[in-house]
Amino acid sequence: MVYGLSTIDFFPSDSLKYLTMKLIIHGGFFSESQTNQEIKKAKQEALAEIAKLGYKHLQSHTAAETAVYAVSLLEDSELFNAGTGSQIQSDGKIRLSASLMDGKSLRFSGVINVEDIKNPICVAEKLLNFDDRVLSGKGAKDFATEHGFGYYNPETPQRRKEYDKKLSDSIRLGTVGCVALDVLGNLAAATSTGGKGFEIPGRVSDSATTAGNYANTFAGISCTGVGEDIVSGAVASTIVTRVTDGMPLALATEKTFNELKPIDGFAGIVGISATGEIYHADTHPYMVWALCDGEVEVFS
Ligand code: GLY
Repeated sequence: MVYGLSTIDFFPSDSLKYLTMKLIIHGGFFSESQTNQEIKKAKQEALAEIAKLGYKHLQSHTAAETAVYAVSLLEDSELFNAGTGSQIQSDGKIRLSASLMDGKSLRFSGVINVEDIKNPICVAEKLLNFDDRVLSGKGAKDFATEHGFGYYNPETPQRRKEYDKKLSDSIRLGTVGCVALDVLGNLAAATSTGGKGFEIPGRVSDSATTAGNYANTFAGISCTGVGEDIVSGAVASTIVTRVTDGMPLALATEKTFNELKPIDGFAGIVGISATGEIYHADTHPYMVWALCDGEVEVFS
């Protein structure tokens, strides 16, 4: 259940369904050395399936519940750098970060650098109902354990191989995210990451900040890319603020991306506005994303 709402009494008559519902997801960037067609195709197929499942979920759940659901599926896919299959940090450990922004309640919750759990986005969702809503490290892990999230090692043999070979340039950028617009016009954004790979332990990703993940009643944005650039540009919150002030989503995004140019920022976003405008932008090619408003479309 999402703060203040229950799924059961949330949805009005069937006649209102399908009027506005939209879902957009991303699997981050894949690095240029991973552009072989097999990996690209596998990611596209995974995104298509998750977009379809997410949209089905949206028919009977809130935007926030759906964003969490879609991101949890992305976390469970080894193809992406979030949850299972996350990248390994410089000290050999995996630390996960994820956040949820419910545009209706205007609540943000998240976990930063949490270890040994399966779905950090579900811990973020659990935190949405608490006064203390962003937890890091051991505190986040203790909270997760107290609330029934068991031990789980998200490492895969492929990531260990990359780490052992010090292939830091071959991985890095596979953050996942989702923005959903539900039948009542409410928006939510969810984002999850294993970080950059090979980072200094303690480094904080953008994904559990409002620079990397933000929504209100006007728009929702989920980011991927280099966290330091995204935080420097306050990307998600800036785009959403511009839409709130009356700018179309596309223009708000382009203006914000122009502001990344002086720092040569590396970023990508997916977004939806309350008017149903859907937009994607990236500073570099090789971002994979998909949308569903009835029909699934996959892009890269
Ligand atoms: N965007 C993911 C990260 O930099 O951690």
